[in-house]
Amino acid sequence: MDLKGRNFLTLKDYSPEEITYLLDLAEKLKAKKKAGELHDYYRGKNIALIFEKTSTRTRCSFEVAAHDLGMGTTYLDPGGSQIGKKESIADTAKVLGRMYEGIEYRGFGQEIVEELAKYAGVPVWNGLTNEYHPTQMLADMLTIREHFGKLKGLKLVYMGDARYNMGNSLMVVCAKLGLDFVACTSKKYFPNEALVAQCQEYARASGASITLTEDAMAGTKDADVIYTDVWVSMGEPDYVWEERIRELTPYKVTRQIMENAGEKAIFLHCLPSFHDLHTKIGKEMGDRFGLKDMEVTDEVFLSEQSKVFDEAENRMHTIKAVIVATLGAPAQI
Ligand code: CP
Ligand code: NVA
Repeated sequence: MDLKGRNFLTLKDYSPEEITYLLDLAEKLKAKKKAGELHDYYRGKNIALIFEKTSTRTRCSFEVAAHDLGMGTTYLDPGGSQIGKKESIADTAKVLGRMYEGIEYRGFGQEIVEELAKYAGVPVWNGLTNEYHPTQMLADMLTIREHFGKLKGLKLVYMGDARYNMGNSLMVVCAKLGLDFVACTSKKYFPNEALVAQCQEYARASGASITLTEDAMAGTKDADVIYTDVWVSMGEPDYVWEERIRELTPYKVTRQIMENAGEKAIFLHCLPSFHDLHTKIGKEMGDRFGLKDMEVTDEVFLSEQSKVFDEAENRMHTIKAVIVATLGAPAQI
């Protein structure tokens, strides 16, 4: 498998075999890290990390992965560079492509990361756009595979805003890898029809299925994975909070939902999460709308079934695999 020179913009561009290769590579790199075995194969190389939206996991994962690989990193924070304001994406890509071996981009429209990739001349990695979050998918699939020992045939239910980056990306990766994907939410939040149709094609090849349902109990029955995300994503206006809370509360992940899925089910969340009032926004929404939590109850979030911190750790191992594969994997891995 040779992914050298490839961009990593959405998993639509990757075959099931290529995705599985990235998961296997992440598993090997994770084992090396756990064994304390140095794997700094890329000494003397550098990568740029552009963040037009904030981040904890994705930024730290890219930085730690790069440092483990012996590379240098430059972090460009939201507002801390000329990008978009004084310099076009194409010019930025050409400049950074002269200095760095790879570029990570987190920001708004998918067309921006695509434009960056078009002109950079080095691999570009999507660290989240409004439409897709492909590095998160590898971490999620690795976490699920570690837990169940397989992926094919499992039922993954996504609850919440399934029209956005997380819902879209989970539908794509499940369809490609043969998991039964359920978007369980109000109709308004179903993924768009064109993407559903495209994923149905992938599903035909992999044996997966795609279901869109408004019925929380039927949708989550016997699920293996219950997944949710914040109800309002980065970059969305504050005024949508009220309608999101009203419309998505029936799809909150509660103990009842987990019991309906069954004992073997696990809970995943890309994080950050509003499962209590210990955040500025959580507290503000709690005060305004009389809530204790939002997309998931604290009880579920902290339960044995919740694997969210294994999932967060796997962001680093899987992002490292993406860097290694697209820069060219050394023979010794
Ligand atoms: N899950 C995720 O992308 O987290 P950050 O926003 O902290 O990077
Ligand atoms: N949907 C969320 C995901 C955060 C990792 C957002 O875009 O803010």
